[in-house]
Amino acid sequence: MEIKVDFATEKDLDAVYSLNQENLRENVPNQKEGFLTFNPSKSDWKKYINNKLIVVAKDKNFVAGYLLIFDEPPNNEFFNPIVKGIKKLKIKHYFLLAQDCIHRDYRGKGILNMLYDKIKQIYKKKYHFGIGEIEESNKISYYVHINKIGMEKIGEYFFEGFKWNLVSLNLRK
Ligand SMILES: CC(C)(COP(=O)(O)OP(=O)(O)OC[C@H]1O[C@@H](n2cnc3c(N)ncnc32)[C@H](O)[C@@H]1OP(=O)(O)O)[C@@H](O)C(=O)NCCC(=O)NCCS
Repeated sequence: MEIKVDFATEKDLDAVYSLNQENLRENVPNQKEGFLTFNPSKSDWKKYINNKLIVVAKDKNFVAGYLLIFDEPPNNEFFNPIVKGIKKLKIKHYFLLAQDCIHRDYRGKGILNMLYDKIKQIYKKKYHFGIGEIEESNKISYYVHINKIGMEKIGEYFFEGFKWNLVSLNLRK
C-alpha cells in the first residue's frame, strides 16, 4: 500500500460520491463504524472538486478516503447552525472541516491523519482554525478526531433532533 494525498480531480468524482453515499447513516450496516450526514448532489461534489475543496488519499488509482472543506461556508440548513455556533464563540479566521470518510478496507491505518496533514499544510498560513461538526452518536469519529487528529471540543448545538459537537483544530499549534 502506497498512499498519496492530493486535491481530487474529476477522475475521482464517482469514487468520492460512492464513498459518501455508502457511508450515509441510513446506508451503513452498523453505526459503530461511523457514518455521514451531509449528502450533497453529485453535481455539487463536482463543483467542490473544481473549486479545490476536496483532498483525496489514493492507493495507486484507488480512492481510499477524502476530506471536504469549505472556506466559504455554504448557506444551507445543514451548515447554518454550525456557522451560528461559531459566531457565538466569536471565532475568526476559520474554515470548515465539512466531511471526511475513509473506505472500509483502509480504516485503522492513520490515513485520516494524512488528509489532515495535507489540509494543514495548505491552510495554516491563511487560517488559524479548522472547525468541524460530529454528531453525538458517532463515537468512533469523535474518538479519532480528538485523539488522533488533535481537535478539541468547543461547543455543541442541536439540529434535526440530534446533538452535534463542534470541534476545532488549531492549525498553528
Ligand atoms: C472515522 C474515520 C474517518 C476514521 O478514519 P481512520 O483512517 O480509520 O482513522 P485511524 O486510522 O486514525 O483509526 C482510528 C481508530 O479506528 C479504529 N479502527 C481500527 N481499525 C479499524 C478498522 N479496521 N475499521 C474501523 N475502525 C478501526 C480504532 O479505534 C482506531 O483507533 P486505535 O488505533 O486507537 O485503536 C473512519 O472510521 C470513517 O470513515 N468512518 C465512516 C465515516 C465517518 O464517520 N466520518 C466522520 C464523520 S464526522
